[in-house]
Amino acid sequence: RDMGLATKSPDQVRAMREAGLVVARTLALLRETIETGVTPRDLDAVAARTIAEAGASPSFLGYHGYPATICTSVNDVVVHGIPDDRQLRSGDVISIDCGAVVDGWHGDAAITVGVGVLAVPVARMVEACERSLAAGIAAMTPGSRLADIGSAVQDSVEASGHYGILTDFTGHGIGRAMHEPPFVPNYRTRRRGPRLEVGVVLAVEPMITLGSPEVSVEPDGWTVRTDDALPAAHVEHTVAVTADGPWVLTALDSPEPGR
Ligand code: MF3
Ligand code: CO
Repeated sequence: RDMGLATKSPDQVRAMREAGLVVARTLALLRETIETGVTPRDLDAVAARTIAEAGASPSFLGYHGYPATICTSVNDVVVHGIPDDRQLRSGDVISIDCGAVVDGWHGDAAITVGVGVLAVPVARMVEACERSLAAGIAAMTPGSRLADIGSAVQDSVEASGHYGILTDFTGHGIGRAMHEPPFVPNYRTRRRGPRLEVGVVLAVEPMITLGSPEVSVEPDGWTVRTDDALPAAHVEHTVAVTADGPWVLTALDSPEPGR
């Protein structure tokens, strides 16, 4: 069957842009704040204050009992790390995932940032993850298929090197809820999936590892860690399909296409 995806009107997408901008500004501030000695809990406090000062609310806090404003995933933690008091050290790589709600609309994005000096293979992995997100976003043109995103992400990752791609976690639709249908895989699938019509809004979030893609969830019910203890990267944007191409709602420098 070819069930269509839910779409947002142009005004609804513009409302989502407001949430996306809050997320973008928060992540930009966090990127500047990250340095040796800073703790993930410090970053969580900065995010909480920034989101509140924008008149927005955090999407994650209280979501299925999640205890913080952001996810801070250090080194072998891939996603959903809970901010703690361990000071960041040079060579660490940290993914920060942030969601905010404005007027009932969600924005969701993540960055992966090196602390101090990164080992070259780790720095290359971060760049590979960022390139794969850009490739996935570029596939979000009207008339393309959902599966084109995962294919573009996987092709890009494989062109960058030998990395693991998580299959246990995916991107997702987003709107009035942080998680809406469909799942957005970061890998090639057999089915081409529904069409990406104008007004479809998706959170695309590739997660890649330096070694095996096998991961386990810790007893806290959140922390997702690589089984081989090698580091991982995770980046995410909330993106709308418009007639004039993808609009990255969670990027600071991303005007509405065609405007
Ligand atoms: N960007 C993450 C996701 O889409 C945010 C969820 S983390 C949670 O899965 F803490 F809110 F659960
Ligand atoms: Co997400």
